[in-house]
Amino acid sequence: MFFSMASKSFNAVSLIRKKRDGEVLSREEISYLIEQYTKDKLPDYQVSAFLMAAFLRDLNEDEAAALTHAMLHSGRVLDLGDIPGKKVDKHSTGGVGDKLSLILAPIVASYDVPVPMISGRGLGHTGGTLDKMESIPGFTVDISLDRYRQILSKCKMVMAGQTEDIAPADKRLYALRDVTATVESIPLIAGSIMSKKLAEGIDALVLDVKFGSGAFMKTQQDAKELAQTLVAIGEDFGKQTIAYLTNMEQPIGNKVGNWLEVEEAMAALQGNGPDDVMEVTHMLAGTMITMGGKAQSIEQGVAMSREAVANGQAFDKWLQLTAEQGGDTEVLRNPQKYEHAKYSFTVEAPASGYIAKIDAYKIGIASLELGAGRKTKEDDVDPSAGIELKRKTGAKVKKGETLATGFTNNKELIEAAVEVLDDAFSIKTDAIDQTAMITHRVDSQGIHEI
Ligand code: URA
Repeated sequence: MFFSMASKSFNAVSLIRKKRDGEVLSREEISYLIEQYTKDKLPDYQVSAFLMAAFLRDLNEDEAAALTHAMLHSGRVLDLGDIPGKKVDKHSTGGVGDKLSLILAPIVASYDVPVPMISGRGLGHTGGTLDKMESIPGFTVDISLDRYRQILSKCKMVMAGQTEDIAPADKRLYALRDVTATVESIPLIAGSIMSKKLAEGIDALVLDVKFGSGAFMKTQQDAKELAQTLVAIGEDFGKQTIAYLTNMEQPIGNKVGNWLEVEEAMAALQGNGPDDVMEVTHMLAGTMITMGGKAQSIEQGVAMSREAVANGQAFDKWLQLTAEQGGDTEVLRNPQKYEHAKYSFTVEAPASGYIAKIDAYKIGIASLELGAGRKTKEDDVDPSAGIELKRKTGAKVKKGETLATGFTNNKELIEAAVEVLDDAFSIKTDAIDQTAMITHRVDSQGIHEI
């Protein structure tokens, strides 16, 4: 797995052509592209072409490892050895309504398992943890590495954005992939996630690999492949890595959009989280508590996770962290004080029956249309834009009943969002079976059904 960075020089056009024609790039060639891009010696348009070629032609295992290695070493690799405890982080492959990091990080940290979390921004139709954090007035995710260590030592958790020092190649590639339709590729996602996570100084990692309409992996089979790739890379780098396959056919929870999701996460930390959110949260948090050495088994870890919510220690931890990172804790305790979006509208059931499907991808796109995400790298997000689902899949509804409410600060965005939302719900006359939220665990021993 370990090899040195590129020292030879190559012709970028030849490398793009080589990948475009389906040939395999060498480690040196991949390192060269990543290094040059990070140093600003390759323009976005050439790297976009490379990404599209990689997307269409795929990267093999060696190329994916080379990409991860090059991105990891494009910046600093942190050593958190001086902070006591096994450092454990979680990462999701991206979903709609996925606010789980905000709930599970304080649960785990409340047991003194350090959680050094470096997150990304919204990508494609999915939301990003950083955008959610920044919707909390005053909360800053742009912190120096010294400050990152200080906060982690004091609070046992930290929520930061990627600094220029941490996997800078991923930061730039991530933003470029977002706007060049090159996100949904197993090796590109694996390289992106693992380079960032390995640079953080973690000892162990839990991954939430989502499948379904709102995920980058549309099928469970692709999600399995991604999970296996991620676990193999993590274990190869000497970090204990466990992945869960979780369902993202419909949005997780009831709220989608930056502040809306913070609001739901705060309710969850106070014992009022939706069942689907809490089921996955407790499994991931319980696994992290176990990896951090504070529980003997995942079952015990899950019980401890539930207890941390019930007794309020997780919410207290979140408030401590928020205050430390400059955020307003008052508005977290009293969300009605938040400046909510100026405009809202509702989507009604076109017929009576059972909700057979709420297309998470379309909800994600509608939320983005309302201003909660970015269409270009430069766009600002509207923190209070988004969608609240009033009913979820399986619910019995009457014609005309409200299915969802949309929020935005820009009235002109409503029409496009409504068009997408009208198509997002499908109603059938027969009751439907609920699908499982967590289907498999993948670890160094293989894949296990849950
Ligand atoms: N999350 C990441 O960090 N990177 C990706 O490419 C997709 C999801």
